[in-house]
Amino acid sequence: MGSTASTPAGPVEAAQRAEQLRALVRYHQHRYYALDDPEIGDQEFDALFNELRALEATYPDLHTPDSPTQRVGGYVADRFEKTRHPAPMLSLANAFSPEDLRAWRDRLHRLLSEEERGRLAYVVEPKFDGLTVVLHYADGIFTLGATRGDGENGETITANLRTVRSLPLHLPADQRSPLAPPARLVVRGEAYVDKADFERFNARQAEAGERAYANPRNFAAGSLRQLDSGITAGRPLKIWVYQALIVEGGPALPSHWESLAYLRDLGLPVCPDIRRFTDDDFDALAAYVDAFGRRRHELPYEVDGIVIKVDSLGMQAELGFTGKDPRWALAYKYAGEEAVTTLLDIVVNVGRTGAVTPNAVLEPVQVSGVVVKSATLHNEDYIRDLDIRIGDKVVIKRAGEVIPKVLRPLPELRTGEEREWTMPETCPVCGAALVRPPGEAATYCVNNACPEQLVRAVEYFVGREAMDIAGFGIKQAELFVAQGYIHDLADIYELPWDDIRALEGYGDKRVDNLRAGVEASKERPIHRLLTALGIRFVGAVVAELITQHYHSLLDLMAATPEALNEIEGIGPKIAESVREYFSVDSNRALIEKFARLDVRVAEEAPAAPVGAQPLAGFTFVVTGTLPTFSRDEAHDFIKAHGGKVAGSVSGKTSYLVAGESAGSKLDKARQLGVPVIDEAELRALAGEA
Ligand code: IVH
Repeated sequence: MGSTASTPAGPVEAAQRAEQLRALVRYHQHRYYALDDPEIGDQEFDALFNELRALEATYPDLHTPDSPTQRVGGYVADRFEKTRHPAPMLSLANAFSPEDLRAWRDRLHRLLSEEERGRLAYVVEPKFDGLTVVLHYADGIFTLGATRGDGENGETITANLRTVRSLPLHLPADQRSPLAPPARLVVRGEAYVDKADFERFNARQAEAGERAYANPRNFAAGSLRQLDSGITAGRPLKIWVYQALIVEGGPALPSHWESLAYLRDLGLPVCPDIRRFTDDDFDALAAYVDAFGRRRHELPYEVDGIVIKVDSLGMQAELGFTGKDPRWALAYKYAGEEAVTTLLDIVVNVGRTGAVTPNAVLEPVQVSGVVVKSATLHNEDYIRDLDIRIGDKVVIKRAGEVIPKVLRPLPELRTGEEREWTMPETCPVCGAALVRPPGEAATYCVNNACPEQLVRAVEYFVGREAMDIAGFGIKQAELFVAQGYIHDLADIYELPWDDIRALEGYGDKRVDNLRAGVEASKERPIHRLLTALGIRFVGAVVAELITQHYHSLLDLMAATPEALNEIEGIGPKIAESVREYFSVDSNRALIEKFARLDVRVAEEAPAAPVGAQPLAGFTFVVTGTLPTFSRDEAHDFIKAHGGKVAGSVSGKTSYLVAGESAGSKLDKARQLGVPVIDEAELRALAGEA
């Protein structure tokens, strides 16, 4: 993710981007550390942080002393005493794929001598999702405990930590152990809550009408940040210890593995789900990392990845750090975040194609920083094949930006109260019989007059990607369909404006604006109209491809699938779908009606681009209102300078050009670490002053 963000073209862009990133990182750190109320998930935050760090590495001048990369990433609240850590509490570099993991190993191989490579081994540990704690013991007595804070100084929460039952107050914890306690011991670990305890706690809170915590990490942080340790004592907190920071007056500990064994012998809570692999066995390590990812939901505690560490402490010291991350450790994050919640109900939605999709109504749950209340269940077969029942505990996944989906039920948690679900026989909106065509997984409402289908089709038609009619959204679509003003998409251009003025909430100004928006959309390039029709498989990108060859929708209506198939990027599926659409009389009539109503259905073939192509190789997405360019002008400008234009932000986007009131695309670009530029920067990139 973060690693794929493209680098800005030059130092000017880099400086602006770095400035932006610093502000973003600070803002999200504040939400996370100070407010315990993160807006984005760890993965998304890491992407921002990593991009900033990469920029500062490429342009050392950008390394300002107040950059959040200079701190380990934290925030010290004022209400607790501060403790200076014996060493900075470092963070971990992230990996997101098996390739990243191999690349890390290759780097280690390059940095270590041949002799060291022969002895190289790794320890693999869960990455616990809780709150970092630093624990100090003097002569075996627990004397001080602190949070990570900003990495240099943490909050002193000794009294609260003393209430955590899995934390021994004396070492060795077992009085019968022959071990002598070390004179000084400082360890790092994670305070966390078991998933089941967390659920129980939240359920009780809800019963008592009190606030529930969004996730186990917030629970741990919130519980340890209580000024009254009596409250903390009532919280089911636990601790895993995963690093010996200082051992004085104890045995020589040459490796991480041995130091963990020592901490365990002293009675400190060291997680048993820890493995050691030699470098020769790296394939087995990779397989373990993969398998752990699949079974991590079965663990009693929450994890947000797995940590791989070089075992030898000597090699660790030699490998050292880059910035704030040790070279000797890596946090492997699994793609997409998953969570378990209850399936409260299954409802069906009618889409613009008439497809009826079952949707899960979920007990709200936090997944990678976002509260998820519904998820797709795809179709009838999906539910039947997986035996998903209403009332089940289900695993849901939110991968990247896609709509969350229900992955599978957890039948082992059934109580017997669960109910099987069947697809309704009639459309929940219009009451017409639903049809499932043979060989298809989807069920359709085939009533062309189904108002819900029309509402969805209108909503899509007027949307940003399509005809982009300002002030026209789902509310207007619902209203105008319900009023009987719209029976087909072209009716949008024949709305009875005087009648609309009489509707509640539709004053003159609003109607004039709406009408101006509708009028303006008549001039949109034809690829937008083609997109807006909502033909299956013909989204913005395909529509553009098609209209580079067909400059008139009237010509396109007559095109054979074979001819369409010739177009690069258009396969038989798309070609057949287009043919099918235009084989329906009412669809052909619709295009003719657009033409009659002066909506542009044909345009001149554009001249071949000439001149310099400074934007060649870059893909841009434009969003929001730009100061001087209209959306189309910006697109034309980009193309004229050799750049490509895409409709939605993805990992392949080089830049998001954002103006005023940029919406979800801006959020998405930030999440993916796609550089965001404004119109002036776009012009500068293209070589214009
Ligand atoms: S080692 C220098 N091991 O992950 C290495 N960290 O992204 C320091 N964490 O703030 C960290 N489980 O709170 C390490 N087994 C584990 C961990 C772990 C969870 C947390 C830790 C740190 C964050 C870094």
